[in-house]
Parts: sequence; structure tokens; C-alpha cells
Amino acid sequence: LPDVYRGIDDLRNALSPLRREGKTIALVPTMGALHAGHLSLVEKASEQADIVIVSIFVNPKQFAPGEDFQSYPRTETADLEKLADYGVFGVFAPNAAEMYPNGFATSIQIEGPALGLETDHRPHFFNGVATVVAKLLLAVMPDTAIFGEKDYQQLRVIKQLARDLHLPTKIIGAPTVREEDGLAMSSRNEYLDNNERQTARTIAETLKTARNALHNGESWIDVRKKALTVLKLSGFATDYFELRHKNHLGTPIDAKGARILVAAKVGSTRLIDNIEV
Ligand code: PAJ
Repeated sequence: LPDVYRGIDDLRNALSPLRREGKTIALVPTMGALHAGHLSLVEKASEQADIVIVSIFVNPKQFAPGEDFQSYPRTETADLEKLADYGVFGVFAPNAAEMYPNGFATSIQIEGPALGLETDHRPHFFNGVATVVAKLLLAVMPDTAIFGEKDYQQLRVIKQLARDLHLPTKIIGAPTVREEDGLAMSSRNEYLDNNERQTARTIAETLKTARNALHNGESWIDVRKKALTVLKLSGFATDYFELRHKNHLGTPIDAKGARILVAAKVGSTRLIDNIEV
């Protein structure tokens, strides 16, 4: 199994001699409950750098009261076993007191790509993500860090963070890994019962249908209206279904190269997905 580091000092002490030897480092930040989507990021990381660090930390600051922080799956032993085949150098798995000791008082607030979409429904979310990702990047000081396109707005927010704070880490995006029926893999898919799991495939199907309709010249207004109807009839409560510029996530001038982003709830489980047009 990969070595587990609980403290930032221990991790830094392990990495600094390797860095001095000229080894490059890639970081894959996660909240654990690892699935094939996470593992694809680990594979990409090992193509990018000599040494791969995976962080596992269920970050309390990105959950609002009443969200699923308590019930979020925590499967550390199984996660370490999954990583054993990937030649990972180490896993950084701090506890909450290591990351947020008493008196912790800093929060990173991002606008730009963080405005709208997720922020309209989870206003606390990107401050929590940006704060923890900045801390992880500064703890590890990796040459590259890999993030999934599954969480597309998050990827754009982290690119903005790295740029605005002059972080020396290159932020790399990796394509979404899907189940056979198209459902984007997610640790939260474990919450779905059999019926909900059947329904869940509709999200990816609706995105594809919408993209194809745009390619065929249909207007976004019509495409969006149809998609919202399909999602509703399938039993989803949709938070948003929007067409955005692929970089700044503002209104796109042209649908080509833009991104459709969706968030919708089936039962009490909230799923997000997106597709390039
Ligand atoms: P988590 O949801 O565990 O995801 C960790 C990384 O895996 C993210 O970069 C996410 O986009 C990527 N990922 C998840 N599902 C994927 C899939 N099906 N295909 C490809 N990549 C996928 O995202 C977070 O954790 C947290 O917000 C974090 C960035 C770790 C900060 O706490």
C-alpha cells in the first residue's frame, strides 16, 4: 500500500530530498471513495511527473450545514488498496485539525468563473474548494495538479486561483469517466437506489441530445426548453441547465466550443455533469 502522511511537515520532509534530486511531482486532490474517474486522474498524473501524491480529505469547508458532509462515503482502506496498483508515492490524508487548526481564519474568495451555476445553489462551495485547494497546492508544491472535467466549473475556478495567486503549479484537466450507460462516475452515485440509478442516466443522455440539436442548428432557447422538460418528466428537479463559454463560463458568443452544464436532483441526490458542444 502507498505510504500515508497525516501531517504537512511529514509530507514536506519526504518530498524535499526528491525535489532536490530533480524529481517532478504531480498532485491529485480527492475526497476519497475512489472510483475509476479518480484513478484516471492518477494515471494522467503518472504520465506528467516522476512522483504522484494523492490527497484524500473530505473538506468540511465546502459543505453547508444540512449537506452530506456527515454521510459522505469514507473508505480509506479500500482507497489505499485501489491506489496500490498505480505506483503512487504517497497519500496525503490529513485530519480536519491538521488542515484547520483552532484559530484558522483565512478564506479564499473567487469571482469570475465561480459566479453563477453552482454558486447560485451552493453559495459557500467554491470558497471552501478554493481555500482547501490552495492549502493542498502549497503543502505539496507540485509541478502539476490534475482535476476532472466532471466538475467543470471547479476546474475553471482552480485554474483562475492558480493564475491569480501566481501558484507555480500547472493545472491540468482530464476527461470525464462514465459508466456504460453514460452516467458520470461520482462518489455520490453510491447514494442512488435502483430506481434512481435508472433515472440518473437521463442526465448524460439529455446533454448529448442537446449538443446534437445545437449541432443541427436548433436554437439554445428551444434546446434548453426540451431538455428541462425531459429532465422533469424523468423525475429530476433541475437546479440549472446552461450554455456557457468554455473558459470564463460567461455567456458564449458562439455555441461552438461552448459547454453545457447541468445540476439536477433525483430523490435527495444531487448530480452534476457537462458536455462540450
Ligand atoms: P472529488 O469529488 O473526490 O473529486 C476529485 C477529483 O476527481 C476532481 O478533480 C473531480 O473532478 C475528479 N472526478 C470525479 N469524478 C470524475 C469522473 N467521473 N471522471 C473524471 N474525473 C472525475 O472534487 C473534489 O473531490 C473536491 O472538490 C476537491 C477538488 C478534492 C477539493 O476538496
